[in-house]
Amino acid sequence: MANAKLLHWHAGSAQSVIEHCGVVAKTLISSSMDLGLGPALDYVPHLARQVFYRYEAFRWSKAAYDPFAEHYHLMFSDWGALIERQSATIAALIEGALGGSRDLRILDTACGIGTQTLGLAAQGYLVTGCDISTAALKRAHREAAARNLHLHLSPADMRKLTSLPESGFDVAVCLGNSVCALDSFDDLVLAFSEIQRNLRRGGLFIVGVRDYRRAMMERPLKIDPPMLRWDAGKSRTVHQLWLWTDETRYTAHVYIDAEGDHHHFSARCRAVLPQELTNALQVAGFVDISWLPEDAAALKNSVYETGFDQLMATARAPEF
Ligand SMILES: C[S@@+](CC[C@H](N)C(=O)[O-])C[C@H]1O[C@@H](n2cnc3c(N)ncnc32)[C@H](O)[C@@H]1O
Repeated sequence: MANAKLLHWHAGSAQSVIEHCGVVAKTLISSSMDLGLGPALDYVPHLARQVFYRYEAFRWSKAAYDPFAEHYHLMFSDWGALIERQSATIAALIEGALGGSRDLRILDTACGIGTQTLGLAAQGYLVTGCDISTAALKRAHREAAARNLHLHLSPADMRKLTSLPESGFDVAVCLGNSVCALDSFDDLVLAFSEIQRNLRRGGLFIVGVRDYRRAMMERPLKIDPPMLRWDAGKSRTVHQLWLWTDETRYTAHVYIDAEGDHHHFSARCRAVLPQELTNALQVAGFVDISWLPEDAAALKNSVYETGFDQLMATARAPEF
């Protein structure tokens, strides 16, 4: 209860500060447009523009993921089984790098409803999950309670993790293709720098991204074949459509139809190629960056079960 209240308070204050800054920056920019000073936009202080873009990205992500929170699990044929499979894979990576102790603190930087957070907590790790979507965090909180698991949950933007109550994590993860929510290379670097700053020396970072090398060839429209699932005798179809808006950005539409219950969600995404991700990790100061061999990536083809891939990389925070 106390946790839920704290969560609410944090979410409220962080959100209102960022929204106010965003509104000020937006007003500045749109008034210069209204006055016919379009070109003057170039002179709007760099900082105001940064705040504006950050606010826009924040608003978009929240707007996209908040309504998705109660239905997110329906994208997968068996979310519970997925949680177990993923946590086993992640635990194996952690054991390989840091040994078998469960006395390790893990930060899940875009935990959503808890796909990785819950499984890692069930493995015995001490897990902190953060996310920009307070609705997703509330659901993760509920799912943890239902499984008798303890999670620390904190609303936070992975590009600015100063609101986290602690740092010095042994491990950080950013999985489930959450990097696609970051709208530019600069945002990737910002997020990875923040993550690096919150790891202990030599801490391990595990990041996953869809294999966009193929998906990008299907621009301007990518339609995934609908998935048909059966839940207790009831059918469920899940269908995805991606509308590319430029070379690297697209809007992903997810349609879920569970016998009369229709849900549609959309999110703005950016395709991140492995080389770009490696570059961003390097700029953020990570070392020992390595990609799991594709055929050995246990998450491959099992994450969403819709045929697209999840590539995974590991990196270390420097020792000094
Ligand atoms: C595709 S979901 C993946 C969630 C979870 N890792 C999973 O696999 O189920 C992406 C998540 O990233 C979150 N997100 C988007 N932008 C973010 C940001 N800047 N900081 C933190 N979380 C963010 C969304 O709210 C959403 O929960």
